[in-house]
Amino acid sequence: MAGNILVKDLTFKYLSMIHPIFKNVDLNIHENWKLGLVGRNGRGKTTFFHLLLNELEHEGSIQSSLRFKYFPSLPSEDEKMLTLDVLLQHNPHIEVWEIEKELAGMDLSSEILYKHFHQLSGGEQTKVLLIELFLNEEVFPLIDEPTNNLDLKGRKIVGEYLKNKRGFIVASHDEAFLNQCISHVLAINKNSIDLISGNIDTWKYEKTNADLLAEETNQQLKTEIKRLNTVSRRVNDWGNRRENSTKDASERRMAAKQMKRAKAIQKRTEGLMKEKQNLIQNVEKTSELKMVISKPRNQLLFFRDFTIMRDNRPLFQPISLDMYPEDRLFIEGENGAGKSTFLKFILGMENLEVRGEYNICLPEHLSVLHQKNNENQDYLSMLRKLSTKADKEEYWHILHQLGIERSKFTNQISATWSAGQQKKTFLANALLGKNELFVWDEVTNYLDLTVIHQLIQAIHTYKPSMIGIDHNEVYVNAVATKKIMLLPSER
Ligand SMILES: Nc1ncnc2c1ncn2[C@@H]1O[C@H](COP(=O)(O)OP(=O)(O)OP(=O)(O)O)[C@@H](O)[C@H]1O
Ligand SMILES: [Mg+2]
Repeated sequence: MAGNILVKDLTFKYLSMIHPIFKNVDLNIHENWKLGLVGRNGRGKTTFFHLLLNELEHEGSIQSSLRFKYFPSLPSEDEKMLTLDVLLQHNPHIEVWEIEKELAGMDLSSEILYKHFHQLSGGEQTKVLLIELFLNEEVFPLIDEPTNNLDLKGRKIVGEYLKNKRGFIVASHDEAFLNQCISHVLAINKNSIDLISGNIDTWKYEKTNADLLAEETNQQLKTEIKRLNTVSRRVNDWGNRRENSTKDASERRMAAKQMKRAKAIQKRTEGLMKEKQNLIQNVEKTSELKMVISKPRNQLLFFRDFTIMRDNRPLFQPISLDMYPEDRLFIEGENGAGKSTFLKFILGMENLEVRGEYNICLPEHLSVLHQKNNENQDYLSMLRKLSTKADKEEYWHILHQLGIERSKFTNQISATWSAGQQKKTFLANALLGKNELFVWDEVTNYLDLTVIHQLIQAIHTYKPSMIGIDHNEVYVNAVATKKIMLLPSER
């Protein structure tokens, strides 16, 4: 593998767009960097990958001798491929021991090689596809949001795996994960692109300082402009009065000179105005999200030595748990421990055989957000379900607060919305109306950092009753007041 990625004067927009996503972008990315790609939902991270893959027509140039490969690209389900075949497909000369070494790095046993790829869990598939990328040294991986199917432990393992590799770009919204494995940051801001050496903490520190400086300069400029305006007006008035009130030639000359000065001041003022505008535009502004809640009155959950039976075996080791209205309970445990099954049981969605004592007393108004977006629903179908104009406006208001530009609301095709934009249509729906209990399964998947922080803020302000499952460390640590760990039962 040799060479850098040299982006020169890149400008790109999708046909349906008014403003370009990228405008006159210059970048020089080193082949050995572990580059984290961040930016709000819809800023163009996935698009940037498709540009590097040379799949989109653009202005300017992208020069590189690297061979890019995109993650995730799942093998088709029709081909019933063994995991080993998936790994060997593009790397026929790799020896099995080399593969086994990589598997160990991902905490996978080599048995997995002889299982059908499509029978693996989402987390296992992610790990296998990442290994596949790195088996081939000729390939420069473009990794788009690898953490969505991974639990906390999985994220740590994949983070560690990537940390020991070199030369890739990874787009993610998980700060803790990125901090673990990157050496550089490429951030797509509102009006600029930053490329810095360091991790997310470094970038955030620099960005906050730059934003504060921009705000401060902005305030100074405003005061300065006001002063200059007054001066300019005064000089102008004075000059006018002088010029009109005297016939003396030398006095008129003086007055004309003052006029010239006034014009120069005016010009400078205009220049400063422009500068101010540019500075102001790059600062992200977010509004505070609102959650309309009313507190449930009773204890919500009571479990004693409780477990769910599957194939005559307990799914997890028996738990004892109480949840009260003031609790924000998070269900933890590795992939496959039964978190979603337990949640479905609480919601009464599935009739399951159980052991132990329990009492579930759910309030009437629930905000439920499932782990997987319902494929039969999108922005338009959800909008159609809202009957009143006020409800529709509330929905648009929340979407806008979550960072979706208003121009999208008239766009009839929501299929081209970015992953995070699609997730936001479900989140906005879950924030509508008054709710007594919020049951959110992996709400942070696909969401950008700004929205995650907006959610944290709102949860702190409104203190809703909540049952959650989430693998975003920053989010869980900030909002959970109670945790229950589901441990696999001994077999
Ligand atoms: N084929 C397309 N046609 C028109 N617009 C598109 C198309 N694909 C994406 N977009 C729009 O381009 C913008 C950038 O999308 P992209 O998927 O690159 O964002 P992203 O940064 O990856 O976001 P996320 O964090 O949500 O994954 C979004 O506003 C999206 O709606
Ligand atoms: Mg994306």
